[in-house]
Amino acid sequence: MTTQLHAPGPPAGLLGLKLARRFSRDPLAFTTEMVREYGPLVHLQFGPQHAFIAAGPDAIHEVLVAGSRTFRKEPRTRNAVRKIDGEGIITTEGDFWLRQRRLVQKGFSADRMARYAEVTSRRTDQMIARWPDSGDLEICDEMTCLTLETIAETMFEVDMAADSRELAEQVEYLSERLVVELGSPLQLPDWFPLPSKRKKRHALRALHGMIRRVVEIRRQSGSIDRGDMLSMLLTAVDTEGDGGQMTDQQVCDEITTLFVAGYDTTASGLAWTWYLLAQNPEIAEQATAEAQYVLSSRSACYEDFEQLTLIRRVIQESLRLYPPAWLLMLREATIDTQLMGYHVPRKSWIYLAPWVTHRSARWFADPLKFDPERFTSGRIAEIPQHAYYPFGLGPHRCIGERLALLEMTLIVATVLRNFGMTLSADQGPVEVEPHTAIRPRGGLRLHVERHVAG
Ligand code: HEM
Repeated sequence: MTTQLHAPGPPAGLLGLKLARRFSRDPLAFTTEMVREYGPLVHLQFGPQHAFIAAGPDAIHEVLVAGSRTFRKEPRTRNAVRKIDGEGIITTEGDFWLRQRRLVQKGFSADRMARYAEVTSRRTDQMIARWPDSGDLEICDEMTCLTLETIAETMFEVDMAADSRELAEQVEYLSERLVVELGSPLQLPDWFPLPSKRKKRHALRALHGMIRRVVEIRRQSGSIDRGDMLSMLLTAVDTEGDGGQMTDQQVCDEITTLFVAGYDTTASGLAWTWYLLAQNPEIAEQATAEAQYVLSSRSACYEDFEQLTLIRRVIQESLRLYPPAWLLMLREATIDTQLMGYHVPRKSWIYLAPWVTHRSARWFADPLKFDPERFTSGRIAEIPQHAYYPFGLGPHRCIGERLALLEMTLIVATVLRNFGMTLSADQGPVEVEPHTAIRPRGGLRLHVERHVAG
């Protein structure tokens, strides 16, 4: 029996305009407040559009896992992302997505991960060799360049050191436009003669041109397998499916997808980890002691990952308090259906915000406290299943999760072994800016101090 009862939520008021304005002005505060007031599933109405915030573990599970065929990525959002990523696994659905996901997955096998770890380690060494013994750094820039150079080398063996800042700016501009354009009721085509559209076309040409050149050069080189992701995508055969391979266009789309999805999120996670460690010197000291004990006088490598247990918990906790993907891609109900027993009309939007769930006292004790010990084996059972999901859940769960955790752990360990970090004297209060990934508004200045060799 279906019920027509809507989930609790605020009155829509005049066409829901006020609600929509509050949402777009401060989405973090708005979604948090709605869930605090109305509970794990909140109904919102924007004019004729029904929308829900699915914040409770049961609702999250119903949308992302049990109902992944009913709740699909919303078409307008998917089309906007497609302009950047093409038909990569982030924008596709159904059989085509499944085939591509199987092929891409092969690039994350254990032997490939060991090679990616080696790249991370070398790039981190190069970064800290440039750092002063004592001085202030813009840590978001440092982490963005490091993760961008690392992902470029692991995905397609290109040294982006000289161009990383410029390419990061282009991709950042594309993400900024994505958020602005999705939030605007008026959709103008990309050819429209506006400065913002011209800049967007330029950024798209720079990104796609770079990827196309990399694929062409590799094809022409005759030595396709170099141990990177591109080698794998060019040679992978879908043995479980149609026995076919990817076309060059499909390879370009998947490489663009992995490149764009892979570095900004990881850089955001690292920046917030440094912020939290700078705010919690006791935990930073314990994590430094772990890094120095496990690594002795060298940099972190693949084999160290399992032993760096406290640093891994620090990262898990940092991804709880500051989940880079603070809001998942918008979902849409493809049929009239239900969530937690409440009616959900066809074409309703579903917002899933790890930021809200991770910071709610409904699911986490003392939720705003930075407490890596939540993730010890003795306490992890206190976290309700599906309440912690920085990498999403279900079939579309992040394909780069293991790589991201590996990369972050090795970077944090190597940096901690060499440097102490505090907030710079000129760093004011830190505000969160909800972009495609959350980041400290205006950047984050840290003071670094090289440890005296002892
Ligand atoms: C800390 C770092 C990262 C975070 C927090 C993160 C988070 C996420 C989340 C939440 C999703 C699910 C989105 C949704 O269902 O709407 C996702 C999907 C995805 N991520 Fe990540 N990610 C990270 C790093 C990476 C890396 C390093 C890569 C690749 C090298 C990557 C590639 C992808 C791809 C391709 C998808 C789409 C998967 C699919 O739909 O099948 N991510 N990520």
